Amino acid sequence: MWPDRRIIELFKIHVPIVQAPMAGVQDVDVMIGAAEGGGLGSLPCAMLSVEKAREQVQIFRQRVSAPLNMNFFCHTPVEADADRESGWRKRLTPYFQELGLDPGMSVNAANRAPFDAQMCELVEELKPEVVSFHFGFPDNALLKRVKAAGAIVIGSATIVKEAVWLEQNGADAIIAQGAEAGGHRGMFLTQNIASQPGTMSLVPQVVDAVRVPVIAAGGIADGRGIAAAFALGAAGVQIGTAYLHTPDSKISVLGRAALTGATDESTVITNVMTGRPARGVANRLMREVGPVSSEAPAFPHAATALGPLKVAAEKLGRVDFTNLWAGQSVALGHQMGAADLTRALAAEALDRMRSLAG
Ligand SMILES: Cc1cc2nc3c(=O)[nH]c(=O)nc-3n(C[C@H](O)[C@H](O)[C@H](O)COP(=O)(O)O)c2cc1C
Repeated sequence: MWPDRRIIELFKIHVPIVQAPMAGVQDVDVMIGAAEGGGLGSLPCAMLSVEKAREQVQIFRQRVSAPLNMNFFCHTPVEADADRESGWRKRLTPYFQELGLDPGMSVNAANRAPFDAQMCELVEELKPEVVSFHFGFPDNALLKRVKAAGAIVIGSATIVKEAVWLEQNGADAIIAQGAEAGGHRGMFLTQNIASQPGTMSLVPQVVDAVRVPVIAAGGIADGRGIAAAFALGAAGVQIGTAYLHTPDSKISVLGRAALTGATDESTVITNVMTGRPARGVANRLMREVGPVSSEAPAFPHAATALGPLKVAAEKLGRVDFTNLWAGQSVALGHQMGAADLTRALAAEALDRMRSLAG
């Protein structure tokens, strides 16, 4: 059936589809659907407290008997730089004024935390079958503990050099994240957004460079994309944006409307929303200040000053300052629940591969 079963066997799943972790827009409901459909459900933990992450995993364990993936960011935290913060506030002042807000108002710091000892204890307690990291790997001591807890460890690479680094540092499989992908670029050995390869180019080059199985990500939203990924040598796919359209995602009403109206030209890579490059549906801030600005404070501090703007604009029905992370295939969305989507994607892929084989 599947031409390469390495990911199916490594993760002990039925179809080689990983539901991509998507911080801020999904919880356990999408994971459960993906698992019921035979794929791997992922819990994004970057914006969750330890208690919330534990609760979500416990709900998953009660509802399905299937492996799960806990996903963490592992950027090196940078203290907020007062000069850059005030420059950024100045740049945003016209928007504060337009929305009737005080540009000097105090706001809560943006909450995207890297993997740390506390989260590592949670992994040791909950024993997820898979742990995935974005932005490289945590330090060796933490990584060793994750492995000792029995987790299969995977990480995202956006260039061949990152894939080789991840393999050398213990990755059991590698997610090759092409430039089409929605959300943050997992880049950690390069800062050059302009030279990020697309999925079609990245996947076979990563497959050639590493021995561990490769999971293709970025712009894959139907059976054709999955068949293409396998043709390029991938043993699995990681799909995010297609799951955003499902009723199981926690995207806001405004966000859902923006996705529904999106086309192949709607998304851009920007750093103005958080300070790190990420792909999303272009909004007013990206158009007027970005999409890429050298004034944006380092990740995640750029997001701090945007908090009140986002809330005030959304009250007026506008997504001018809202993250609408999505990949270039956003318009290929199927309208169905996560379990049916996973089954449909697998069935379409197998059909497509059979018909290509003649
Ligand atoms: C809304 C959204 C949020 C994301 N958040 C995360 C995250 O928290 N952790 C992570 O490893 N990847 C995250 N990603 C990236 C995905 O892992 C994956 O690379 C991407 O969704 C694949 O491309 P696609 O969206 O075209 O399917 C996110 C993607 C989207 C669309």
